[in-house]
This record gives sequence, structure tokens and C-alpha cells, in this order.
Amino acid sequence: MTNSKQTETLAQSQQPIQQMRIIHLKDLRAHPDLREAPRAAEGEPSFELLIEHNRQYCDEYRNNALFEFIQSGRLDDNRCRQRFLDAVQVLSNWFQKAMMARSVFNEDPRFVSLFQQHLDEEYGHNTKLAAGRGGQREPLWDPILEATSTWFAWKMFSLDNLEKTVLIHLVLEAAASTFFPVAQPIMDVYHETNYFTHHNEADDEHAAMALEYLKGYQPEIYRRLMRVQKEGWEMFNTLCARMVALADEAPG
Ligand SMILES: [Fe+2]
Repeated sequence: MTNSKQTETLAQSQQPIQQMRIIHLKDLRAHPDLREAPRAAEGEPSFELLIEHNRQYCDEYRNNALFEFIQSGRLDDNRCRQRFLDAVQVLSNWFQKAMMARSVFNEDPRFVSLFQQHLDEEYGHNTKLAAGRGGQREPLWDPILEATSTWFAWKMFSLDNLEKTVLIHLVLEAAASTFFPVAQPIMDVYHETNYFTHHNEADDEHAAMALEYLKGYQPEIYRRLMRVQKEGWEMFNTLCARMVALADEAPG
């Protein structure tokens, strides 16, 4: 990279982020703000390519074993369903820690409102899930579930704020907004938790609320963000497949 390009990139990164607006992922192609974004050369990493890849990752996620599992009727077995919810609890606990870590350890004023608003809207969902199930269950521990769930929280200590935004909003929240519309009506039948309802109502906006923050950077920034995006989706797909395996292996 030349010195002038470095200067340009640094100067651009210091620009204040515009007032946040909610944009739904499905409306992105038509959103007028995209006309103001710098034009990337064909095939070069860009905001548009990052979002296009995320759309593809969401589509591929529908092929995860989790989707077949949730619609298979296997959840009618109480042992299987409780084991599945135990696994959801592990993810929910670590997601809560990731949200807190991201907010607590941020000093960049450009990201304060995004991180705080999102934390406010997510705060306590894990404890509500546990309380709704009686609050006395033995925590589920599995090395793969633990490794893939904690990975997102630990990344809040090592990534920069744009990279954290990709993991939280383009991976976890976009995955949630893909999964919960399918899962909520199925889980509601059991009247055990409103966790699925809460997330089905909120996660589409949680995926979209960060899009403004990811616009306007140079190709090398998007190249790095797309690497983080790929790693995040691979981790999350592994996590979801492991949830299914654990639920199917529920002890009798
Ligand atoms: Fe959410």
C-alpha cells in the first residue's frame, strides 16, 4: 500500500458515522445510500460484495442440519427438546457475554450508540430463557458446543470494531433472522419459552442496524471483513450442527 493510500484510508476511517437508520437486508439493493458509496471495481471487495456474500451465507445456512431437525418432529420427544434448549442456553449465555464485552471494552465514540442500543435490547434474554425453564437445570457442557459458542465472545477481545460488527450483526443476527421465523411457530406449540418469539420479532432489525457502520471503506478493509465473515459463518454452522447432534443423543 502506498503512503497516500494509507493516509486516505486512515482519514476515511476517522469520518463520523452518519445517523443510524434501520435498513432491512432485503431492501438493500434499492436503498438510495448505496448510490453515495464509493464504487468498487468489478469483483473487488466492497460493501455490496460483503452483503451479497452474506445473502449467500444465509441461503446456505438453511441447509444446516438445524433446519431439518427443527421441522422433523423430533422435538416432540421431551428429552430431545430439553437437550436442544440446554444447547440454546449455552449459546445464549455466551452471546450475552459477547454483547457485554463488545460494549464494555469499546472507547470509540462512533460505535458507542450501536453497541449500547443492541446490548440494551438483548440484555437478560439468557437469564429469562433459564428462568422460564425453571432455572435449575444442570448446564450442558460439550467441547465442540463450548468452543464454537465461546469463540464469538473471545473475538470481542481481539478484533477491531468493524470486524466485531460483522460477527455480531452479519453472522449471528442474520443467522437468527433466518432461523427464528422457521423455529418460532414450531417451538410456540410447546408453550415452554417465549425466547423464540422475542428473537423472531427483533433479530431482523438487529441484523440491519449495523449496515450504515460498514459502508465507505477501502477494498483492503472489506477483504479482511469478508475473511472474518467466512470464519464466523463456518463457526456458527458448526455450532448449530453440534446442537442437533447433542439433542439427538439426549440421554434416556
Ligand atoms: Fe438479536
